[in-house]
Amino acid sequence: MNKITIHGGTRLAGTIKASGAKNAVLPILAATLVGQGESHISHVPHLHDVTTMNQLLAQMGAQLTVDHHSDIYINPDSITDPVAPYETVKTMRASILALGPLVARFGQAKVSLPGGCQIGSRPVDLHIKGLKAMGAEIEVIDGYIHARTKNALGNRLQGNRIVMDKVTVTGTENILIAACLAQGETLIENAAIEPEVVDLAKYLSAMGANIEGIGTSKIYVQGKDSLNGTHHAVMPDRIEIGTFLVAAAMTQGDITITNTSNEDLDAVLDKLTEAGAQIELGENQISLKMNQRPNPVDIYTAPHPAFPTDMQAQFCALNAVADGTSIITENLFENRFMHVEELKRMGADINVEGNRAIIKGVDHLSGAPVTATDLRASASLVIAGLAAQGDTDVHDIHYIDRGYEAIEEKLNQLGAKIIRS
Ligand code: EPZ
Repeated sequence: MNKITIHGGTRLAGTIKASGAKNAVLPILAATLVGQGESHISHVPHLHDVTTMNQLLAQMGAQLTVDHHSDIYINPDSITDPVAPYETVKTMRASILALGPLVARFGQAKVSLPGGCQIGSRPVDLHIKGLKAMGAEIEVIDGYIHARTKNALGNRLQGNRIVMDKVTVTGTENILIAACLAQGETLIENAAIEPEVVDLAKYLSAMGANIEGIGTSKIYVQGKDSLNGTHHAVMPDRIEIGTFLVAAAMTQGDITITNTSNEDLDAVLDKLTEAGAQIELGENQISLKMNQRPNPVDIYTAPHPAFPTDMQAQFCALNAVADGTSIITENLFENRFMHVEELKRMGADINVEGNRAIIKGVDHLSGAPVTATDLRASASLVIAGLAAQGDTDVHDIHYIDRGYEAIEEKLNQLGAKIIRS
């Protein structure tokens, strides 16, 4: 069951519902560690990465149950083993998000270095630098980050002013969570302002954290002695929504996605409009209609609110059949064009020069056997297969299950013809 076959040439039409955001639920699950008592996390997407995070927290000793709606009930008070082992971290880099909360709450943590992944080296030096600035004693030994608090006050980190050298989403999240239990005030400057960071901050505030500047690059936190578990409903997944909108644009379809939050996708919606799509925003829903071959659109990825790198691969597919030439510039990750060689097997005319892809639109793509290399690359291959003439087999499709809930069910609900085998 690691391959899907897509019968190309079908227009997507109809309505689907957006799932909860992968990149919000993962830091929120890590943040449950700093709350005393039970947290209830709802609107959780059923994803492999969520299952991995649940397993990680349970093996540390947290009490965790998942109900039939995929809601998660978790109580970290019984944790006895603040360790994130290599076997888990290597399958999901977001495990690094346990580092800050474990040190802040339990005074110690042993977390495997995530290592690189297909899209880049993915360093975590800024996570470590920030926690050290808060008084954590950190050593890297045998591939593990060993962290503990050292101050005379016992297991307390100390608030501090932390200027992030680069905008890092999970780096900001790790330090933000830790600061909520630190002694005194923390100021995080050059913080990431992605909507997922905002959703995390809303959950922390509901736990009793004192955070100001949410959604800005300057976040002030007044540390508390303790926080309490509480309920939080995860925000909709803007990247899943963007992915389905590109799929509809590519097949000259007409779809509506419900349960959306429309303010998180301006840069993507602007580019879809530039490509020729007609977009209508409703109450928590987005509709897209496309009646033409896409116009070519230049893309330049950058931190929020600019164009998100997680939508870059999908727009490579859209531009591959555009009526002209476009340039996509990837500024965040050093190896995020792995999908290009696979798209070229389908007839795309793309030339990668450093961090730029020059794309000459072709009339149509042709179905072919292709192989997924990472989460968003696999999404771009699925989108290309929907529009291609003939059948496309996407191998190693397990990557897509990390970040898209029931993707073939949702696409088939819109008229696609996809079979997993
Ligand atoms: C988060 O990754 C997302 N993952 C990624 O989504 C997303 O692509 C990325 O942010 C950028 O938006 C989750 O939220 C779980 P970064 P993260 O730290 O936090 C450099 C997907 O497809 N950097 O914001 O790991 C880094 O090399 C995934 O859903 C350092 O140099 O990304 C990169 O160039 C892929 N040192 C830049 O910052 C550090 O300590 C941005 O990376 C940390 C990061």
